[in-house]
Order: sequence, then structure tokens, then C-alpha cells
Amino acid sequence: MENKSKRMDSFKLDRILFAVGALILLGISIFVMMDDLNRDWRYYQSEFYEIVLEEQGAEKADQIQFGINQIYIKELNRVDRCMTCHLGIKWVGLNNVEQPWKSHPDTKLLRDHPIEKYGCTSCHGGQGYALSEYEAHGFVQHWEEPVLGKLIGSEYDPRNPAPLGQINCNHCHRYERYTRGMDYINHAKMLVRKKGCKICHIINGTGGKMGPDLSNEGEKHAESFDFSNFSTENLSVLNWHINHFKSPLSVVPNSIMPEMNFQTKDAIALSMLVMSWRDNSEIPLEYLPSFEIIEERTPEEIEKEKRMLSGDGAFFVENSCFVCHSIKAFDIESPTEKGPDLSYAPDDVRTRFNKTLEEFLFNPTGTMKIILESQIILSDAQKHEAITKIKKAYEIVKKDKEQME
Ligand code: HEC
Ligand code: HEC
Ligand code: HEC
Ligand code: HEC
Ligand code: HEC
Repeated sequence: MENKSKRMDSFKLDRILFAVGALILLGISIFVMMDDLNRDWRYYQSEFYEIVLEEQGAEKADQIQFGINQIYIKELNRVDRCMTCHLGIKWVGLNNVEQPWKSHPDTKLLRDHPIEKYGCTSCHGGQGYALSEYEAHGFVQHWEEPVLGKLIGSEYDPRNPAPLGQINCNHCHRYERYTRGMDYINHAKMLVRKKGCKICHIINGTGGKMGPDLSNEGEKHAESFDFSNFSTENLSVLNWHINHFKSPLSVVPNSIMPEMNFQTKDAIALSMLVMSWRDNSEIPLEYLPSFEIIEERTPEEIEKEKRMLSGDGAFFVENSCFVCHSIKAFDIESPTEKGPDLSYAPDDVRTRFNKTLEEFLFNPTGTMKIILESQIILSDAQKHEAITKIKKAYEIVKKDKEQME
């Protein structure tokens, strides 16, 4: 009897000890978790002290400025306290330590944009005055300018995280053709010139009117975009543009913006570029790179745009034929080149369709039958006009060829 109750007692004791142990463990893990979340700037500063002490000695470590480090830039209306945690930014030689203690990469960039004058958020985004990591990096509701770092970039191209920060660079550098350190934006600017976007869109104040004015496209908020054809959960403006560039029709039903077979990288670069087109009239002139020297378009390009929008080629631009057809003789370059160059059509339709050009346009077959019956409805007079102009183009290339020989 006695033995049994003793055994009961020790059994109870075991259970109590076990429960207490579990509670202590739980407590420790909650504490560790809370501590992780609460690691505030003071924690990062004391760690920074340890790091400098170890790497560079006590004398250096004593030079650390503790407390809240802030940069106030009146001209840009910014208060950036990022350096409170990112204490190593201006420190030389801390390239192999972890964030947020690391030296800033490419010091040349910071020489061109001293942080006393530019702060951090003008390039990185984020909430300058916040002192917790989560808030400073801007992943809070209703804050529209998070730190555009690797974390967000990898959401769009995990193997090759997009350098989204270049959106902010181009807020100031938008009128340059090429800027060192902005490879995605440079690539997109080249595509905009090559694909003739300005034939349909006003960009930086000039261009055509077939599509919306894109001069301030980057000011548009997510609520202004229609996501109803999206199957993914990522309803960001960036994602809207990426999908739209890849396939305008799948995002905007009945869109006449052509599908230009962009790769993911092209689509991301173009999306970054259109999002960088924000009003920069509030930025003081001293913060804008001089753009008289580096004109956005060469005189040849301006001349070419004019020629495409006036003269004999204009008919094919106005009636959207140029979306698929280049016409070399009139200097018209198609963004998609889905159909053949119309300069050669009089010869070409005869060999390919065994028809004259007149017969082909009044009684088309294949792709053009569908297009002329459902998408581009031309009157008889317009068809005659097209024929006259195509023949004129043909004469021009024929003459050019004779001269070459
Ligand atoms: C002129 C623009 C500019 C300014 C001003 C600037 N940065 Fe940067 N920063 C960059 C660029 C460009 C990179 C390199 C980005 C990359 O390689 O992904 C970078 C990289 C960084 C990184 C490293 C990111 C990584 O991938 O590890 C941190 C952290 C950082 N900056 C913080 C700051 C802080 C804090 C400030 C202000 C004290 C600041 N930067 C000021 C442009 C700038
Ligand atoms: C409370 C401390 C704290 C503040 C304030 C802070 N950061 Fe950070 N930051 C961190 C830590 C910690 C990391 C490393 C995080 C990681 O690796 O996940 C980091 C990483 C970064 C990176 C690299 C991450 C990436 O996705 O590329 C950038 C860029 C950056 N911070 C910019 C800023 C800017 C700009 C500010 C000011 C608006 C700022 N930080 C304010 C703590 C802070
Ligand atoms: C707030 C406006 C602003 C932002 C944001 C900005 N820049 Fe600049 N940048 C300037 C100004 C102003 C100059 C000086 C131009 C001059 O004096 O000709 C400059 C100069 C430069 C230069 C040197 C130009 C040369 O010809 O050598 C480079 C390269 C450059 N910026 C790249 C960048 C990159 C990359 C970013 C983003 C990480 C960036 N800039 C963000 C305004 C800005
Ligand atoms: C044949 C004319 C045409 C060409 C060429 C064209 N677009 Fe468009 N684009 C349109 C039309 C029409 C719309 C409106 C319908 C839609 O959103 O698809 C549009 C919409 C857009 C939008 C969305 C604007 C918004 O806020 O809704 C962007 C951004 C855009 N185009 C950029 C470009 C760029 C960049 C290029 C060149 C690579 C280009 N477009 C070439 C006709 C064109
Ligand atoms: C959406 C693309 C698209 C548009 C817009 C378009 N075309 Fe075409 N077109 C084609 C394709 C593709 C062919 C080649 C047809 C085939 O092989 O069946 C073609 C062929 C032609 C040909 C025969 C050329 C040859 O060398 O064989 C003529 C002429 C022509 N199109 C005129 C026009 C005119 C005029 C317009 C504007 C009113 C126009 N097209 C608009 C796609 C287009």
C-alpha cells in the first residue's frame, strides 16, 4: 500500500517537473522571439561597437557616434535616420561584415551623391524617420515607397533579382540616354527608342496620341489599375506593368497596344522605367543632372519621329499598319515586325499570293483577311490611298537599289 502511494507521488512529481520544464522552454523561446523582434537600433549600435573593436581596435571603436544619427535635407524635404542602424555605411573596410553594419558598396556613387546632400531614401526608398527595421524599410500598410532592395526584387525574378532601386535613380536621371550604374533603365530606354513607343504615346511631353500620355505614369497609384484579369495574388503596380508588357491583351481586353515578345527581363526593365516617370518639378535644379548636355533624343531621332507622323508614312501610322509592318522607304520601323516590309509588297504579293496588290487589298487572304475584316476597317478610298502609297514606297526602294548598283 505504502509502496504504491510512493510510486504515485513520484509519478506526480515527474509530471509536474515535465510541465514546468516545458513552460520554461516555451518562455525562453518566446523571449528569444520577442528579443529578435525588439532588436532595436541600440542593439545594432552595441554590436557595431563589438565589430569595430574586433576588426579595427579600440581607438577606432571610440570614434563611433552613438545615439540617433540623422540627415536632414531641407531641399528634398527628407529626414533620414537609416544610419542609426546602418552605422558602417561611411566606414572604410567593413566590407565583409553582415548587414546592417557593412560599408556602403561603390564609394564612387557616394562621391557623386554625398549622403549629407542626398540622404538614403532618395535612392533606396523607405521611411526615413522610422527607427524600427520593419517600419524603416517601409513594409507597412499605406506606405507606398518601401526600400527597393533585393528582398522585393527577387519576388519578380528569383534567379536574377531586379535592381528596383534604379526606379528612384531615374526620378532624377530621366532625361539622360545612358547613366552608369543603371543597366536596367538604360536597357529600357533603348527599347523605348527601338520599339517606337512614342508613335503611340506622349513621353516626356512629346509623341503620338493612340495610347495614354505616359509622361507621369509613375504617379499612378495601384487603385487606378484594373487587376480583374489577374490570376496571381501579387497586385502591385510593378506586376501590372510586367504582365501588360508581356501581353497587353491579357490585361486590358481590346487593347491595341501590340505584343512585342518581351522577355521577363525586358518587361521588368520597361516597367521600372515607366514607374520612374514621376513629376520631378519639386526637386530643386541642383539635384537634377544637367540634361541640356545629354539630350534625350538625337536630332536624327526627332527628325525620324516627325517623318513617321507626317508625310507619306503617316497613313500607315494613323491606321496602325506600322504595328506589324515596317516601311523602309518612309523610314517607318515596326515595333513588332509581324508582317513583311510593305516597301516590297507590289513584287511580293505577286510571288507569294499570285495576286496584284490591288487584288490583295480588296480581296485579301490569310492574316490580312482577318485584320481587314475585323480590326482595321478601311474604306475603298483608303484602300486606294494605301495602294498608291505602297507603290510610291516601292519606287523609292527600287531607285535606291539602282543607285547602289
Ligand atoms: C546615390 C544613391 C544612393 C545613396 C544616396 C545611398 N545608397 Fe545605398 N546603395 C545604392 C546602390 C546603387 C547600392 C547597390 C545596390 C545593389 O547592389 O543591390 C546600394 C547598396 C546599399 C546597401 C547594401 C544592400 C545589399 O544588397 O547588401 C545598403 C544597406 C545601403 N545601400 C544603405 C544605404 C544607406 C543607409 C544610405 C544613407 C546613409 C544609402 N545607402 C545611400 C545607392 C545609394
Ligand atoms: C532598426 C534598424 C534599421 C534601420 C533604422 C534601417 N535598417 Fe536597413 N537593415 C537593417 C537590418 C538588420 C538589415 C539586414 C536585414 C536582412 O539581411 O534581412 C538591413 C538591410 C538593409 C538593406 C539591404 C536589404 C535589401 O533588401 O537589399 C537596405 C538596402 C537597407 N537596409 C536600407 C535601409 C534604409 C534606406 C533605411 C532608412 C530608411 C534603413 N535601411 C533603416 C536594419 C535597419
Ligand atoms: C535626387 C536626385 C538624384 C538621384 C536620386 C540619383 N542621382 Fe545620380 N546624380 C544626380 C546629380 C545632380 C548628379 C550630378 C550631375 C552633374 O553634376 O553633372 C548625379 C551624378 C551621377 C553620376 C555621375 C555622372 C557622370 O557623368 O559621371 C552617376 C553615374 C549617377 N549619378 C548615377 C546614379 C545612380 C546609379 C543612382 C541611383 C542609385 C542615382 N544616380 C540617383 C542626381 C541624382
Ligand atoms: C500601336 C500603338 C502602341 C504602341 C506602339 C505602344 N503602345 Fe502602349 N498603349 C497603347 C494603348 C492603346 C494603350 C491603352 C490600352 C492598354 O492599356 O493596353 C497603351 C497602354 C500602355 C501603358 C499603360 C498605361 C496605363 O497607365 O494604363 C503603358 C505603360 C504603355 N502603353 C507603355 C508602352 C511602351 C513602353 C511602349 C513601347 C515599348 C508602348 N507602350 C508601345 C498603344 C501603344
Ligand atoms: C496585326 C498585324 C498586322 C497589321 C496591323 C497589318 N498587317 Fe498587313 N500583314 C500582316 C502579316 C502577318 C502579313 C503576312 C501575311 C501572310 O503571310 O499571310 C501581312 C501582309 C500584308 C501585305 C502583303 C505584303 C507582302 O509583302 O506579301 C500587305 C500589302 C499588307 N499586309 C498591308 C497592310 C496594311 C495596308 C495594313 C494597315 C491598314 C496592314 N497590313 C496591317 C500583319 C499585319
